[in-house]
Amino acid sequence: MTDPVTPANRIRALRTTISYHDHRYHVLDDPEITDDTYDALFQELVALETAHPELITPDSPTQRVGSTPLDGLAKVIHRVAMLSIDTVTDVAEFHRRVTEALGEPEIDYAAEPKIDGVAVSLTYHDGVLIQVATRGDGREGEDVTAQARTIASIPLRLLGEHHPQRLEVRGEVFMTLESFDRCNATALAQGEKPFANPRNAAAGSLRQLDPRVTAQRPLRLFCHGVGEVAAAAWPLTHAAMMAQFQQWGLPVCPEATVVSGVAGCRDYYQQLAAKRDQLPYEIDGMVFKVNTLAWRERLGFVARAPRWAAACKFPAREALTVIEAIDIQVGRTGTLTPVARLTPVGVGGVTVTNATLHNFEELARKDLRVGDTVRVRRAGDVIPEVVAMLPERRPADSLPVPLPTCCPVCQTPVQRSEGEVAIRCMEGFFCPAQLKEAIRHFASRRAMQIEGLGDRLVTLLLEAELIRNVADLYQLHRIPDRLAALERMGTKSADNLLAAIEESRNRDLARFLFALGVREVGEATAASLARHFQTIDALMAASLTELQGAGDVGPVAADRIWHFFREPRNRIVIDRLLAEPATAWHQAATRHTTDNHPLAGATVVLTGTLTTWSRQEAKARLEALGAKVTGTLSSRTRFLIVGASPGSKLTQARSLGVEVLHEAEMMTLVNQT
Ligand code: IVH
Repeated sequence: MTDPVTPANRIRALRTTISYHDHRYHVLDDPEITDDTYDALFQELVALETAHPELITPDSPTQRVGSTPLDGLAKVIHRVAMLSIDTVTDVAEFHRRVTEALGEPEIDYAAEPKIDGVAVSLTYHDGVLIQVATRGDGREGEDVTAQARTIASIPLRLLGEHHPQRLEVRGEVFMTLESFDRCNATALAQGEKPFANPRNAAAGSLRQLDPRVTAQRPLRLFCHGVGEVAAAAWPLTHAAMMAQFQQWGLPVCPEATVVSGVAGCRDYYQQLAAKRDQLPYEIDGMVFKVNTLAWRERLGFVARAPRWAAACKFPAREALTVIEAIDIQVGRTGTLTPVARLTPVGVGGVTVTNATLHNFEELARKDLRVGDTVRVRRAGDVIPEVVAMLPERRPADSLPVPLPTCCPVCQTPVQRSEGEVAIRCMEGFFCPAQLKEAIRHFASRRAMQIEGLGDRLVTLLLEAELIRNVADLYQLHRIPDRLAALERMGTKSADNLLAAIEESRNRDLARFLFALGVREVGEATAASLARHFQTIDALMAASLTELQGAGDVGPVAADRIWHFFREPRNRIVIDRLLAEPATAWHQAATRHTTDNHPLAGATVVLTGTLTTWSRQEAKARLEALGAKVTGTLSSRTRFLIVGASPGSKLTQARSLGVEVLHEAEMMTLVNQT
């Protein structure tokens, strides 16, 4: 027998359907219906509830966001204290204590990431969410029910059946790294202060007095335990309890698992540590908990922590240190970059002594001065970053860093072009700092690939005045003795270097163009120019219009190239290089295989919306050419490919020095056979 279609019945059915689809979308990340279909269901429910306000209940999906800001957050006394976890450096020690206390030799542990978020307690009465509170000091927290109700992955009513009469679920509210980046980008765009890290963002968003603001913040929840439960039957293990939570629509961390003994814990630690940089959220370690719930009762508590759980921390990614000096570095293209020299400090497993401050605008925005105590952050192999300074620790006599007026290396007045953040020394190869970087770039692996010609050697060659520009490299074979006499050199190393220089005569036009280090001409543009013009003579003779019409060369790059070849001081060096005998760089290479495709072996990250292909298709196409497509930027990333609305990855790529390709440039590169 079917129910008659009364408004009340239809409302009930709609709520069940909508809650089911909310769960599929927000918890399982696996929607079954289109957004349009969902919206239609939701609108139908809104319309019915508007017509029958007496049928509105707090657990209706329409009632997530209230409309009135609160005066303050009420206190909540936890009926069962929210404990902390003991941190151990060695799981064997924890395991020994557990086995001794239980007299059981073999123990299974529930193993979970320790989510870096805000601990909360969610209370359900007969399956309906009635209260959400923060942990606070463990005994007393704050009521954040109105705010937490806006978190889409938190069920307002539990799915399934057999709900306990009272259930207090505990978990962690957090923000994914992607959402955090987006939130901060929005904050900056609106002239607001960005959050220092995802945990602060989650805490700040959850404790907002206006729940409508919380609703704008993409918060998530993972459940990891219970407080008070009044239920007829209850699972026997933590893992079974988590499975039951999932049945009820409560989100659980997908990395959670069960392991056996010390070996199992150690394996899991290794696996998770290796995965840390790929996870979409921050974790600060992992938690091991005795899986059998009855054993937990026997183990009990000491002080403020249970004896049945232990946390193993990962190296912290943030630390406090002091700025000892702010130096200015001159890059290959003349950009002046402020660099903070720091009191050495361990962050993320390495000692950090320097951090780039990116540019002077950023320096001013972060208001950093010598003597400031700052929070530094290093995630994975990403370069260390100064996140913020601690105003309360600023020395009274500190002064702001003045904007440079001259290049710190060649003393020439610097320029700041309109619409550009960068302050530049315009001396090009005539500034020793830029010359050194230009030679290093010329010799680097993806350019002329002169093995062994690194930073130290370039400095030595310049200081001994054996070279004054890149063309001089090809004359070094005339003075092998002077080369061998360089510090830590010797005949053998000198011979090796000369052989490597000779070998670099085989580089083709694309590499040669890239090696010249023209601003705005990255590998992709260089390859595209080489393909279009085929010979260096044709390229050098090309007009501005011709350059702009060449493949994907943009107007700015075209302009730079045109001027580069018309600058007399550049021409002297280029003409000398072109006069070198037995070189392959006058012409584009003719033979290509996938192996020497610029994408072969390259790590690539995609961001923003692509128009030609879907993300998936782009990934497949790039991988077919030998690229490795990942989600996280690091200094090892070869290209960041940007579509529309790229967001914070673009800024990050720039600060990491990762080459940025627009979609059209990617297509050119892909089509390069
Ligand atoms: S279990 C009595 N599991 O870490 C043990 N806690 O120091 C109850 N946390 O504020 C906590 N991820 O909210 C547990 N997978 C996880 C966790 C986790 C993060 C937080 C927790 C608490 C702190 C304990």
